[in-house]
Formats: sequence, structure tokens, C-alpha cells
Amino acid sequence: MNIIELQDVHVTFHERHKTVEAVRGVSLKIEQGEIFGIVGFSGAGKSTLVRTINLLERPTQGRVLIDGKDITAATGDELRKLRRNIGFVFQSFNLIDNITVGANIAFALKAGGVDKAAWHDRTVELLKLVGLDSKIDSYPSSLSGGQKQRVAIARALANNPQILLCDEATSALDLETTEEILALLKRINAEIGITIVFITHQLDVAKQIFDHVAVMEDGQIVEQGETFDVFSAPKHPTTKSLVDRYLGIAIPPQLVPSLPAGTIVELRYRGDGALEPLISDVTRQYGVSINVLHGDVEYFGPKPIGTLIVLVDGPAETLAAALNTLKTHVYSYRELDRKQLAQPARGDGQQGEE
Ligand SMILES: Nc1ncnc2c1ncn2[C@@H]1O[C@H](COP(=O)(O)OP(=O)(O)OP(=O)(O)O)[C@@H](O)[C@H]1O
Ligand SMILES: [Mg+2]
Repeated sequence: MNIIELQDVHVTFHERHKTVEAVRGVSLKIEQGEIFGIVGFSGAGKSTLVRTINLLERPTQGRVLIDGKDITAATGDELRKLRRNIGFVFQSFNLIDNITVGANIAFALKAGGVDKAAWHDRTVELLKLVGLDSKIDSYPSSLSGGQKQRVAIARALANNPQILLCDEATSALDLETTEEILALLKRINAEIGITIVFITHQLDVAKQIFDHVAVMEDGQIVEQGETFDVFSAPKHPTTKSLVDRYLGIAIPPQLVPSLPAGTIVELRYRGDGALEPLISDVTRQYGVSINVLHGDVEYFGPKPIGTLIVLVDGPAETLAAALNTLKTHVYSYRELDRKQLAQPARGDGQQGEE
């Protein structure tokens, strides 16, 4: 069952001197109870797209369906009900600073039309869910970033929404706190079955919690599917670039001139299959030498993706065949250029991992 469906959604902004097509014809389906991720570089249109789900941004064209119902034109009561059914968590927490944590949550309950008599118990229940019931009388300013985000999550869940939208909800947090918040979201997803749509440009967030992922670039979805599949065999250049930034392991440039002769190759492989058997087979069969320069394994959910940089050298007659055998046994094969490797790393102007 698709709880969210976007059909050919466009969002165009008109500014004085120009028109920005922030979202250009996006169609996607999000299943009830899953954690769906949207990744992409800065300016890709991720926030704008997600804001159409609760009509914070109205599509200029296309349709938004929630639970199979077209809500694109919702106003008044229907819009209020829709917003109550969709919680929103932001990078910047957006808590009200001059009232207590408890009052922040009561504020959402009031907005959701909950009886005043029930506010206290429900507030305690929500704060327990995020492990912060001891902070009910504290002010947001006395909380850490992770605690503020927990309160924001509790507040977003106040009216039992079916959907939780998270826009870079962990991007302002350090690594450890990010892990805590992701674990909390995963637990909430499992316990109450809420559907989560999570935007991030951090692949280490994506790989931990997304069931499905869509990659956005220039207002469009350029690739989507199961998270491991998309990141273990990226097809679109944007996905490749995101994965490269994340999995890319570099040889220190100053070491490159002293490397022995040979072809430097980056191999990526999926699954548990270690590459040692392949490497010793190829070495034996073709009489080439293969030196491992660097290796790393990253887990996407429970599944590993390995990256290995090797230096292959041998007789001209067999070298090409040896390289070709390597190529056919990995999902990604790339010969690296020595001159480029020897240059110090440089940014290309796009926003990457923190
Ligand atoms: N209210 C607005 N008025 C005009 N242009 C806008 C507005 N909101 C967004 N844009 C433009 O739309 C494009 C997409 O912006 P959006 O914020 O959706 O990208 P994003 O993928 O969320 O980026 P980031 O990762 O930096 O948050 C950008 O070019 C942005 O400048
Ligand atoms: Mg954004």
C-alpha cells in the first residue's frame, strides 16, 4: 500500500528576474511503514519536494496523493487535518525557546485539538518515547542538540501522525548524536509503524536507515530503488559522485611517485565475497603481480560494499586479460590515473559529506 504518491510534481518559483524550476516532474511511491530517503547535492530540490507532501509548498503542476486520496487542492479543515497527520522535523529543531519542553509539546497537542485534560499524560508518554521525560520542565536552551532534536521528534509525533518528514534532521549533530537520533527514528518506525521520509546529503545516514532511496539532481529523481542496490551499483553520474565521495579511498598524493610500475585500479565489490581468491587466481593464471594499496569495507544496513585499490603489473601479453578478468568479477572497475592521483585533493564546488 502506497501511503504517499507523487504524480508528475512540478514546483516553480517566480522571483523578480528569474524563474526557478525547483522540482521538475517527480513521480514516486512510498510504502506504508517504510523509511524512504531522498539524497542529493545542495540545491537539488529535496526540501522543496518533501514540502509538497504536506503542502507547505503547493505543486504548480501534478498531484499529491496521501493514502490514495488526492490532496493537492486541500484547504481549510482538510488541510489542517492533513498537516496533523504529517509530522515534520527540521535540521534547526525549531523549538519555542521561552517555554518549557513540556509546554512545547502541549502546544502541538493544543494545535491538534487534544483536550487540555489529556495534555500532561500524553506529554509524559511522548517524552518517555524519546527518553526525555526527566526534562519536561526544562527549557530548550538547557538541552544539547541531540536532546533538542528528541523533543522536536516527540512534538512531531504528538498527534499520532502516519507520516514523519525529516529534513536534514541530523545534519546539525555530531556523529555520535546522529547515531542516537537514527536509532530512535528506527525504533519509532518499528514500534509505531510510522512512515518516515528522510532527506539527507550524508550517505552514512542513508546507509543506516533507508529502506528505499531516491537520488535527486536538478529537480528530478535520477535514480531510485532499494538502498543497497542503488549505492552498490550506482548508474547515474550523481549517484556515482555521491558514492565516490563516501566510499572514495585515496592514496596519499605524495606516495604516488614512489609506487612501482603498473596499472592502478579501483575495484568495488558487493556482498561478503572477499577478493583474495580472485586476486590469487588472477595472479596465478596470468603471471601478473597484484599489490593491494588500500582496502575498505562499508556496511549498508547489514550488507557490505568493499573497495580495493590495487597495483597490477606483468607481461604485456597477459596484463590486459588479467585486468579484464578483474573487471568482470566486480561491479565497479576503474583504472586510476597516476598524474591525477599525485595531485592534492580539490573540491569541485558541490556540497559533499560534512
Ligand atoms: N521559496 C523559494 N523561492 C525561490 N527559489 C527557491 C525557493 N525555495 C527553494 N528555491 C530554489 O529551489 C532550488 C531547490 O532548493 P531546495 O531547498 O529544495 O534544495 P535542497 O536539495 O533542499 O538543497 P539543500 O541540500 O541545500 O537543502 C534551489 O535553486 C533554491 O534556490
Ligand atoms: Mg534542503
